[in-house]
Amino acid sequence: MLKDFVTYNGISIPAVGLGTWQSAPNDCYNAVRWALEAGYRHVDTAFDYLNEQAVGKALRDSGLGRDEYFVTTKLPADVKDAKLCEQRFFQSLDNLGTDYIDLYLIHAPWPWDQVGKDFTEGNIAVWEQLLEFKQKGLVREVGVSNFEISHIQAISRAVGVMPAVDQIYHFVGVTEPELREYCQQNGIVVEAYSPLGTGRLLSDERLTEIARGYGVSVAQLCIRYCLHKNTLPLPKSVHRERIAQNISLDFDISERDIEFLDSLEGKTV
Ligand code: A2P
Repeated sequence: MLKDFVTYNGISIPAVGLGTWQSAPNDCYNAVRWALEAGYRHVDTAFDYLNEQAVGKALRDSGLGRDEYFVTTKLPADVKDAKLCEQRFFQSLDNLGTDYIDLYLIHAPWPWDQVGKDFTEGNIAVWEQLLEFKQKGLVREVGVSNFEISHIQAISRAVGVMPAVDQIYHFVGVTEPELREYCQQNGIVVEAYSPLGTGRLLSDERLTEIARGYGVSVAQLCIRYCLHKNTLPLPKSVHRERIAQNISLDFDISERDIEFLDSLEGKTV
């Protein structure tokens, strides 16, 4: 049994979570059903993935009680004002067919077509709005995604509340040591999206050889590595056997192999 991650507010987040970025609605419905059957209790989606309805239907059709699973969704990256934030949030609730969201994240510090531009004011406005949703009991926990240290500092200094989670691009070779350390020192749970490098790590011969030594797949090795870094992995798959494999992690990576995997920083994809 994998240990839950716990936010600084005491909210438990089950590890591992099923990633659904780039899962088309039909595939996504099946993936969520299979994941729940395999023992997952955490599904990660986003308004922008265009599959919230499929995720919500699969969760409801599973027969599990609402308090038996954890669902995350995200405010679109281009929404940087409070009013539109509220609209999008209620659309997500409606899409998911639920009364509350377990974890609601600001998808990115900038719209995708303006990466790197300063949206501090807008980020503060939507961060305040997310905290209001939490106060009203519409979400259990709030956080951010793709935020760098400066973005986190800007909203938390302005509003006085740290995000509980930062969901980042994280896998063997891209582990953001400085950001990870900052988050972990400040009690922010780090979630790892693309823990398989969006699949690109799977054919890495160095990883294949290490995985063979444990009798596991490269995917399992990479997911276990995230847990070793104290990040919560969100592997995406739409195949039943892979989904089950990705949560079957009953092995530990030796210190020697961890050192080797650490030495691949900047040298994978
Ligand atoms: P598919 O969805 O067709 O199963 P990431 O989580 O880093 O974004 O990686 C997702 C990619 O890795 C997808 O292309 C997914 O393919 C593939 N994938 C996920 N789990 C496995 C696995 N256990 N074995 C092989 N490929 C996998």
